[in-house]
Amino acid sequence: MKILVTGGAGYIGSHTCVELLESQHDVVVVDNFSNSSPKAVERVEALTNKKITCYEVDICDVELAQVFEEHQFDAVIHFAGLKAVGESTKEPLSYYQHNVQGSLNLLRMMKKHGVKTLIFSSSATVYGQAKIVPIDETSQLQPQSPYGQTKLMVEQMCKDLSAAQDDFTAVMLRYFNPVGAHQSGMIGENPTGIPNNLLPFISQVAVGTHPELRVFGNDYNTVDGTGVRDYIHVVDLAQGHVKALEALHQSNQFTTLNLGSGKGYSVLEVVDAFSKLNDVKVPTIFVPRRQGDVEICYAACDKANQLLDWETKLSLSDMVIDTWRWQTNNPQGY
Ligand code: NAD
Ligand code: WQD
Repeated sequence: MKILVTGGAGYIGSHTCVELLESQHDVVVVDNFSNSSPKAVERVEALTNKKITCYEVDICDVELAQVFEEHQFDAVIHFAGLKAVGESTKEPLSYYQHNVQGSLNLLRMMKKHGVKTLIFSSSATVYGQAKIVPIDETSQLQPQSPYGQTKLMVEQMCKDLSAAQDDFTAVMLRYFNPVGAHQSGMIGENPTGIPNNLLPFISQVAVGTHPELRVFGNDYNTVDGTGVRDYIHVVDLAQGHVKALEALHQSNQFTTLNLGSGKGYSVLEVVDAFSKLNDVKVPTIFVPRRQGDVEICYAACDKANQLLDWETKLSLSDMVIDTWRWQTNNPQGY
């Protein structure tokens, strides 16, 4: 199939391009490089020995039309957007513009050009402060940030379009906590500024960019008092996209699917695995809980396991080893 990948130069997008190309799909990338580098696309080409047609285009802009005029796509995998929860509370309009208006523009283009399959990067953040774990797809949707609201709004647009157009397929993939990097060490997460997420921060502590990891809260009702999350290796996640595309592209339905590992690890368990398996020091200090954090969050993934014939294969060990390989091979990022 010929696939348009929006945000294909980004962290999850670049890993998904590798898996798509290795599964013999053709890939066209659209990215404005606001949070990525064209080098990521070059590295994907080098890794797979295949070509990608890449456009520097913002999905909110009229130039997106030209991309649809030049190619007849079988499906779109839509990663492009902004993703920092904290920033979204300070700059909500940017989030509504890039995530909601950008998606609306994309859906309009798809409709105009008869492209009938969309795989969308949603997030576990749509569940907000879920009271019951594991979280399944029927859990209450109550996003706690403008970022989360944008994800839910795009889901709703897709649901409504799917109801209106019988042959439209919309698959909402709700990711839990993507981490790790490709085993080649050639592509990985490349955060700009001080990272908000745990694994990139641990890596930067291990290389000495920061003196210590601040662990947000050690008074949760968990195995060691620190927050528990469902970490999923980005390569497993990328393969989930290919499986979703291949299994559901003619389903003509709106489907929501959790993509996680179904297991929870505490902050200290992750730190411990990272320092032991990579033989590095990761000093930690405990600080008060971070506002908005939940105690425990992990996914029920039975629906994705069954519908996609997919399950995660990579362990916490793979996640921390691959993160460190990427970091040490690319100390300045791309
Ligand atoms: P990322 O920032 O690495 O990738 C997003 C890409 O989209 C970047 O290359 C960026 O330059 C591009 N982009 C942003 N706005 C654009 C626009 N208006 N037009 C064109 N390109 C644009 O982020 P990621 O971690 O790869 O996340 C991909 C998607 O998955 C995002 O939609 C994100 O919200 C979602 N998601 C991410 C996580 C996570 O923890 N990484 C979790 C759940 C959901
Ligand atoms: C993980 C754990 C922190 C940093 C976020 C978004 C979510 C999704 C994934 C996009 C928590 C603890 C972290 C640090 C710490 N993204 N931590 N010190 O908050 O589960 O999810 O990313 O959709 O929407 O909210 O991920 O990596 O920030 O935190 O102690 O310096 O690590 O408290 O327990 P989170 P995270």
